Amino acid sequence: MTRDQFIQALPKAELHLHIEGSLEPELLFELARRNRVEIPFSSPEEVRAAYSFERLQDFLDIYYQGMNVLLGPEDFYDLTRAYLARARQDNLRHVEIFFDPQGHTGRGVAFDHVVEGITAALDEAARDGGPSSHLILSFLRHLSEDEAFATLAEADSHLDKFVGVGLDSTEMGHPPGKFERVFARAGEMDLKLCAHAGEEGPPEYVRDSLDLLRIDRLDHGNRAMEDPRLVARLADSQMTLTSCPLSNLRLAVIADMRENPVADMLEAGLAVTVNSDDPAYFGGYLNDNYTAVAEALDLDRAQLATLARNSFTGAFLDEAAIAGHLGEIDSLLAGG
Ligand code: HPA
Ligand code: ZN
Repeated sequence: MTRDQFIQALPKAELHLHIEGSLEPELLFELARRNRVEIPFSSPEEVRAAYSFERLQDFLDIYYQGMNVLLGPEDFYDLTRAYLARARQDNLRHVEIFFDPQGHTGRGVAFDHVVEGITAALDEAARDGGPSSHLILSFLRHLSEDEAFATLAEADSHLDKFVGVGLDSTEMGHPPGKFERVFARAGEMDLKLCAHAGEEGPPEYVRDSLDLLRIDRLDHGNRAMEDPRLVARLADSQMTLTSCPLSNLRLAVIADMRENPVADMLEAGLAVTVNSDDPAYFGGYLNDNYTAVAEALDLDRAQLATLARNSFTGAFLDEAAIAGHLGEIDSLLAGG
């Protein structure tokens, strides 16, 4: 079995995926036509050519523009269904999906329509061979605390549909402390807590995510590696980190795939996972990310299996489900 075949055969979970970031240019075009939304491109190729980013903000500007074609529940359903089909191809058994409700309600799209469309596709996949899934409501950190509280209030009547909350968008200038009270409230609502930190922001943003937001999972976390005491703390607590290699490369968080922190994170005993972040924008789905790091860092099968194991132990799944997935990885390694 080649390394690529092994990556394909590995049962995996994806823990860091923004559903709006899975909007492929072809679907963007189709939805623009369906909804009569003007877009400043004349072909999917032209859209792809515009995906050149020097920093996170360059991407975010295009990502929010892309969302404009998502209007009705059927658009969110089509988007989610397309991602799940791709996830199944990559042998994903479980996915934990972020969505950005404020990116839609801010344009006049009803919160309920967003949730209805996404969950219809998730429920369909659950009935039809998988993957299983959880949905995570992500706050846009460039917006205010009041706006995050208002979004959490809208979620209140759908609590059975969400496993947790997240924090994404422009990191610099929007430190975790801005959302301390919102996260405390979400914790009281028994929601799991995730935050993007240390993608562009300094190690302090990672520390504040632990101390002020009391997160259960850390998204990205690259710059934590600059602070040995923080690395030791993340290792001791076995905090799950969701690394996104192709995203890091395309957003110039790293200059070369060999600078990817995954190998150092594994070496330091961190519970790191590999994820695609926004696959339609960053040039690859989950297995492409595994392949990219495996090639650049020359990862062996044991390391790849550890990454896949971490994706299940870091998922918000019950013990029995996790044990089932880990058992499948063990039998693959045993040649069964
Ligand atoms: N970082 C911050 N915000 C985001 C990202 C990301 O990688 N993807 C979608 N929103
Ligand atoms: Zn992200």
